[in-house]
Amino acid sequence: MQAPFLVGDKVYLRGVTQNDVGEKYLRWMNDPEVTRYMGWRAFPSSKQAISDYIASQHNSHSLFLAIVDKSTDEHVGNVHLGPIDWVHRRAELAMLLGETDFWGKGYMSEVFELVTQHAFQVLNLHKLKAGTESGNIGALKVFNKAGWVEEGRLKAETYREGEFRDMVLFASFCNRENG
Ligand SMILES: CC(C)(COP(=O)(O)OP(=O)(O)OC[C@H]1O[C@@H](n2cnc3c(N)ncnc32)[C@H](O)[C@@H]1OP(=O)(O)O)[C@@H](O)C(=O)NCCC(=O)NCCS
Repeated sequence: MQAPFLVGDKVYLRGVTQNDVGEKYLRWMNDPEVTRYMGWRAFPSSKQAISDYIASQHNSHSLFLAIVDKSTDEHVGNVHLGPIDWVHRRAELAMLLGETDFWGKGYMSEVFELVTQHAFQVLNLHKLKAGTESGNIGALKVFNKAGWVEEGRLKAETYREGEFRDMVLFASFCNRENG
């Protein structure tokens, strides 16, 4: 393991660095299957854009972590907590498993456990928020399995594959405080 930050059974999480900018990361960001429900799907991604994004995340309002397969030390995706609002003690969460061979094997569910534990127990946050398109079955299952609650829906928020779709908003609350 290289500079592990949070360690689970299948994965460990470490900070994303400029060394991660390469062909693999570029492939993820342009893969139609991976980006099918992502906001940036409409335009191609470049190494420069990825590099700029990583640089922009090195601040006290953001935690940008690489998801690494423990058994092979392969970087397989990223999870992002931010922006963090330290006044209201809440943050948004976004996730991406770029290597499709790793889908459906419980990786993101484990990442959720690691990140929410860190957010609530170490960062002292109170609420995590995320949103996904109504058609993103995998993401909906991850949120539901992790016990996140549906807070509402933004009607016809995205235009995808020839139709407008709802955005489903989820939240998770620190269980030592009421929601
Ligand atoms: C959506 C995504 C995060 C799911 O990650 P994952 O590691 O495959 O999820 P898990 O393996 O932890 O799955 C949790 C449950 O959802 C199910 N699931 C995952 N993807 C699924 C899919 N595409 N269709 C149906 N079920 C799916 C799993 O089988 C599992 O169910 P189980 O607990 O009953 O066995 C991953 O596919 C991904 O990163 N996709 C591309 C980017 C994206 O859409 N991100 C989300 C934007 S909000």
